Amino acid sequence: MNKLIIFDTTLRDGEQSPGASMTRDEKVRIAKMLERMRVDVIEAGFPIASPGDFEAVQAVANSVKDSIVCGLARAGRADIERAGEALRGANAQRIHTFIATSPIHMQMKLRMSPDQVLEQAIESVRLARRWTDDVEFSAEDAGRSEIDFLCRIVEAVIDAGATTINIPDTVGYSVPEHFSSIIRQLLERVPNADKAVFSVHCHNDLGLAVANSLAAVRSGARQVECTINGLGERAGNAALEEIVMAVRTRRDVFDCETQIDTTQIVPASRLVAGIIGFPVQPNKAIVGANAFAHESGIHQDGVLKHRETYEIMRAEDVGWNANRMVLGKHSGRNAFRRRLEELNIALGSEEEINQAFARFKDLADKKHEIYDEDIQALITETNLSTVNERVRLVFLRVCSETGETPHAQVTLAIDGEERQLDAYGSGPVDAAFKAIESILQTESQLLLYSVNSITSGTDAQGEVTVRVEKEGRIVNGQGADTDIVIASAKAYINALNKILQPIQRAHPQLGHV
Ligand code: KIV
Ligand code: ZN
Repeated sequence: MNKLIIFDTTLRDGEQSPGASMTRDEKVRIAKMLERMRVDVIEAGFPIASPGDFEAVQAVANSVKDSIVCGLARAGRADIERAGEALRGANAQRIHTFIATSPIHMQMKLRMSPDQVLEQAIESVRLARRWTDDVEFSAEDAGRSEIDFLCRIVEAVIDAGATTINIPDTVGYSVPEHFSSIIRQLLERVPNADKAVFSVHCHNDLGLAVANSLAAVRSGARQVECTINGLGERAGNAALEEIVMAVRTRRDVFDCETQIDTTQIVPASRLVAGIIGFPVQPNKAIVGANAFAHESGIHQDGVLKHRETYEIMRAEDVGWNANRMVLGKHSGRNAFRRRLEELNIALGSEEEINQAFARFKDLADKKHEIYDEDIQALITETNLSTVNERVRLVFLRVCSETGETPHAQVTLAIDGEERQLDAYGSGPVDAAFKAIESILQTESQLLLYSVNSITSGTDAQGEVTVRVEKEGRIVNGQGADTDIVIASAKAYINALNKILQPIQRAHPQLGHV
């Protein structure tokens, strides 16, 4: 009873962050990292959303062995069957089915009466049980649902075979006292509550996702749904790293423990940030660059005399270690391949390894010390360039000097055919973007542009993230290079490649079956 189950939904709710879509291979890489971290349940996606989502869940189910792999399904036959099929290859599988239970969602979104919702929930759980013994039921918008109705539906779905009951604060409206009292009342009032694990899933709209989840744990919840770096719909979900480290650091307060290997937290955070292209803010708890940095003289003096004066956790316990030089210009193919294995990066074919090795050699020519972070970025780039790339950067020249208007000349290959244009801009990046957009004419809007250095030093690679919007569809693009103008052009082209390929995907919470 004292185990706290960690249910990671980075690959599902995390992917609902605007622009955060992941390819199948990226999902498998993240899932393998979560497995290594000893996450109990990995929610791999929403299989009915699109054929691509189905394949991604299937690929995760086939590659993960030690964690339970879960697929999301609205409360309806088609969704549940699709999830069941996608999960077939898993060692251990879970179907997670949900329906909204708050008055506003039932009336305005579902246009169903509470009795109809109850019936559909029961039927869906029964159906899911035909596929697996491990069925989770979520009462969407539970934070705004009436407690009497919640008790009724929870009792009924447990009777129908649900083994986990998830209570989501879907819109991030709850506050800790109220949210913990929902869990307490359910545990006290639902007669068969002892037959299921109670779980919580909190969104961060008021910045309270972690506080609400931890308050619920104090009331008896024994599963927390969370994401790496707190990714997720709108303001995100509860951050896995904060939940895990709070429970571990304050054992005196929480009567439970997780099985997470905390030393994998920082590597996982970096992997997810790199793949999705959402940089981690420096002051982010646990995984931010400043989380263990002591700036003021008084703090530094205290930490040097006795670490615990100002540090409540040890940086190495969450996987912070100094940047390690792992490879260099003279490293061969075998050393490169061994390092990929150590980083748990599985490249499918010899062709992919050759491509990545060629990029590694190019990089080693420009930058003598290659760190783990450089390798991660290089692999992300290799994956990016193999995924449906219609447009490729062939040539870029920028001219930027004091007193002159910056100018860029760009050649792109579009479906194999080369086109060239030049443009002026307020800076070299602006000029390069203008030239690229003039060639492609996508009529998209640039929403975000950010540059981060992957490691330290002026020879470091710059990692650029851009976010682009067209007709309501938002995508992210990334690029890395020791030259930040080239990194920027690569990131922009990566985003535009995605914009040029509209993908139809159902959003789980927009409508109902
Ligand atoms: O926020 C939410 O309610 C969800 C459910 C699908 C669990 O993500
Ligand atoms: Zn959610």
